[in-house]
Formats: sequence, C-alpha cells, structure tokens
Amino acid sequence: MSTATEMVNTKSQGYTYQAALTASQKVNWRIEDIIGGDKRLDFSKPFMPESLARVESLDFLSADEKRTLNQIRGNAYLCIFGVVEEFILPFLMDHARPHLSGDDYRVRALLQFAGEEAKHIHLFKRFREEFQAGFGVECAVIGPADAIGKAILAHDPMAVALAILQIEWMTQQHYLEGIKDDQDLDPQFKSLLRHHWMEEAQHARLDALVVEALAEGRNREDIDAAFEEYLEIGGFIAEGLVAQTQFDLESLERATNRTLTDSEREKFVQVQTQANRFTYLGSGMIHPNFQAILQSLSPELKERIQQIAPAFC
Ligand SMILES: [Fe+2]
Ligand SMILES: [Fe+2]
Repeated sequence: MSTATEMVNTKSQGYTYQAALTASQKVNWRIEDIIGGDKRLDFSKPFMPESLARVESLDFLSADEKRTLNQIRGNAYLCIFGVVEEFILPFLMDHARPHLSGDDYRVRALLQFAGEEAKHIHLFKRFREEFQAGFGVECAVIGPADAIGKAILAHDPMAVALAILQIEWMTQQHYLEGIKDDQDLDPQFKSLLRHHWMEEAQHARLDALVVEALAEGRNREDIDAAFEEYLEIGGFIAEGLVAQTQFDLESLERATNRTLTDSEREKFVQVQTQANRFTYLGSGMIHPNFQAILQSLSPELKERIQQIAPAFC
C-alpha cells in the first residue's frame, strides 16, 4: 500500500509558504480603511448575489421583501464567516506551535494567516454593528462561536483542515463567480467581500499545505478516517444551517411586519435551507481545487465528494 506522502502532491501545484507570505504582505489592508466613516451600507440595494441568496423563486414575496431577505442573508453570511474564523484561528495557532523553530517562511506565513483571520473576525463584528444600526431589526445568527468551535475542533486535525480548506476555496468561488461582476450589489458590502477575498486567496493555498502536512505519514485507513470526520463536521454545519434558516424566516417576518402562511413558510424553508447548504457547503465541495487536493490524497475521496455534493447544491 502506498503511503499518503507519496500520494499527496500539493507542492507540485506550486503552493509554497514563501509565495503565500509575499502575496499576503502585498495585500495587508486595515479595517479602518474599509469600514466606518463615510463607508456605509446602502440598504436600497441587495448585498448577496442571487446565485447564493436564491430569493427570486419565493414568488409570494414582493421585490422589497426579497431585497430585505437578501440583506438578512448577507448579514448571516458575514456573521457565519466570523463564527467559522473563530475556530480557524486557534486551529492555526495549534498547528504552528510545535514547529516554531523550523522553516521560517512556514512559521511566518501561518502566523500571518492567523493574524488575518483575527482581523477578519474583528471586521465582521464591526460589520454586524453597522448592519444592526442600519437595518433596524435584530437578526439572529447561529452561535455561540466558542461552542461551535469547540465541537468542530474536537475532531481529527486533518478533518478540520479539510473543512477549512473547503471553506477557503468556497469564498474564492463566491467572490469571483458571484460577486465581482454583479453591478447591482451594494458597493460597500461588495468592498468588504473583495478585501476578504484578497486575503483568503492566500489562505486557500496555505491550507492545502496544512492538509498535506497533516496527511504526511498516514496510511489510507487513517486518511479515510479523517475524511469521514470531515463529513461529520459537514453534517454538524448542515444542522446549524437548518437553525439559521429558521432564524432568517423570523427575521424576515419581523422586518417586513408580515406573518407568512403555512405553505409560504414551507416553501421558504425548502428553498432557503438548500440555498444555505449550497452557500456554506456545496459550493466548496464542487470547487475544482478542493477536489484536486482530495484527489491527491486518494482518487476515491474525490469520487465520494462528487457523489455527495449534489445534495448540497
Ligand atoms: Fe477570513
Ligand atoms: Fe481565511
């Protein structure tokens, strides 16, 4: 049986700690420069691309109500990223800690990665305050972040790294394919996503190296076991999204002063649960670069994710 070390070839895809560090040092924006002051959210515009929001098929909502729901989804999007990044941060610190005297580029790139996630957590908290103030109605978001993080970090680090890798590539897909060229979206919300994306591009590559490091020396059985745990993390996130869809429904009813009928609620839950599953899980599972890493671990894992993904799309 060949070992994982022989099978993994992310380095041959050209990812290096040094290149990621150099790229991220060029980006390096400050929170104060992208939010606050005259940089305000425009609540007359949608925040999320329709490919993720999927509000149009809810034909019992008026155009204004659809936009309101779109903004509720936008708020949840950045808040859920904040929640996710609260477990990415300790994960990275734990991963970097045992080898601080090793490869200097590795240490610096991982600490830069961690520092950027800490900054994103801060940014998304600032966003939440601004959204709250402008939107005027409280919108619940799943949490608390430390309880979610604790449940996820209880898994095999390689499973956690795969979940993070999926999330990092997912954000790339959202920005490049859904947001970048959509001229109808609020420019300020778009700017936050653009700045986030600029740093996530390096994270996705670094996380590929983290997965590779964690796969080193593992045999097929160990890799398969980690993959199963990665699927468990996905199942846990999917449960959270069921709760989030319910929160979004309640937020919409409060914000629009309207009570949906039973059949409208049923359709809302059906469409929006799947929209959330695609946003946070499916769009990452189908990302070619995520699948390429799985392929490098074992071709069977790529096949399995390709079988599972449609249920999340
Ligand atoms: Fe981030
Ligand atoms: Fe990230």
